[in-house]
Amino acid sequence: MKRIDGKVISDHIKALAAAETEQLRAQGVTPCLAVIIVGDDPASRTYVNNKKKACELVGIRSLEFALPGTAAQAELLALIEKLNADSAVNGILCQLPLPKGIDEKTVLTAIDPRKDVDAFHPVNVGHIMIGDPVLLPCTPAGIMEMLAYEGIDPSGKNCVVIGRSNIVGKPMAMLLMAADGTVTVCHSKTRDLASITSQADILVSSVGKPHFVTPDMVKPGAVVIDVGMNRDENGKLCGDVEYDAVAQKAAYLTPVPGGVGLMTVAMLMKNTVTAAKMQMTQQG
Ligand code: GUN
Repeated sequence: MKRIDGKVISDHIKALAAAETEQLRAQGVTPCLAVIIVGDDPASRTYVNNKKKACELVGIRSLEFALPGTAAQAELLALIEKLNADSAVNGILCQLPLPKGIDEKTVLTAIDPRKDVDAFHPVNVGHIMIGDPVLLPCTPAGIMEMLAYEGIDPSGKNCVVIGRSNIVGKPMAMLLMAADGTVTVCHSKTRDLASITSQADILVSSVGKPHFVTPDMVKPGAVVIDVGMNRDENGKLCGDVEYDAVAQKAAYLTPVPGGVGLMTVAMLMKNTVTAAKMQMTQQG
């Protein structure tokens, strides 16, 4: 089994983003990412800190806007409007989940699609759906980079995605399909899950439950991508996949931590640079 090293691949993506940032700076443009966090969810705080750290490393300017958990939706929308109008801001990211009482769809749709570095706006989702992506959703695009780096071509392969979220499952299926994979999406209502997953040449799990993917669900020689970010019984960070047991069966496996999570942040850097470049040409 080969462990797919998210650290090595994400460092590579960030180095490319840093080189492009350097070029933009030489032309007088410093890419800038605005990160919005609402409330004090500890996991969200960690993710936002990681994103800011990556910006620093790559040379992207980052701005943080922290609103209290009690903030009104109108306040958040007003902030997004202000950032949309600010030509110095190239990317806007609103960390999810949002507190109860704030409608996620309304908020994500308020972000200018050209600054939507998460690619969650319906316009960008539409671009992905028709195979004409502008900004790519960070986690699925990061997984495609991992596959490419390892020389794994999804073309003609059975690809099974467990999970149908807007953030991972659905866009993952679209990207694998665009790469000519034969894609099956499974979810909580799927019957006889193991019979489907055990036919997968490429299996992507985005369930959010520790020990969910067991060896009986995995085809010998499969590529297994673990998107889970869970805490186990001892409070330790773990994925969806029973790593040691599945490692005996899979040909490739991503670890947690040190896998997909690092790619998400690296792809955010890449999207911010892409957004900055796009906005330069649009503004003449
Ligand atoms: N929450 C979990 N994953 C993500 C992500 O990729 N982007 C944002 N904004 N929030 C998230």
